[in-house]
Amino acid sequence: GKILVLHGANLNRLGKREPEVYGTQTLADIEQNIDLFVKEKGYTMEAYQSNHEGALIDQIHNAEGKYDGIVMNPGAFTHYSIAIRDAISSVKVPVIEVHLSNIYSREEFRHHSVLSPVCVGQITGFGAYSYILGCQALIQHLQKTKG
Ligand code: DQA
Repeated sequence: GKILVLHGANLNRLGKREPEVYGTQTLADIEQNIDLFVKEKGYTMEAYQSNHEGALIDQIHNAEGKYDGIVMNPGAFTHYSIAIRDAISSVKVPVIEVHLSNIYSREEFRHHSVLSPVCVGQITGFGAYSYILGCQALIQHLQKTKG
């Protein structure tokens, strides 16, 4: 199986960006850990980051037929991108939403995700480990729904 890991706006800044909120690991560090984890489970992964909503939408569309599922940290797009929501709805590929920080313990405007209703589920607040939990949840979901 193949997993696509998508990172949205500002996540290329990880390591430098508000380390007290998002940790000190860079995106490359996080991706390396995800890669090790999914390989152990017999999956492969590819990762893509963009600060552009449309580029992420294109990735979601193109995932169909190429990937079994998507683990996505949409960044701030989480809170307002109806276009990303519609892209997720337009494909059969299951999407797990992940966040490094606990969006419910932060500012009010982060408490709502417009994407959650069209995702399989959401994992929030476990730092870089949210991505690992997201992959684990996706793999479990794929095994349950296959056949
Ligand atoms: C985030 C939470 C969002 O509210 C924020 O805009 C981000 C990162 C997280 O991983 O905790 O960019 O998705």
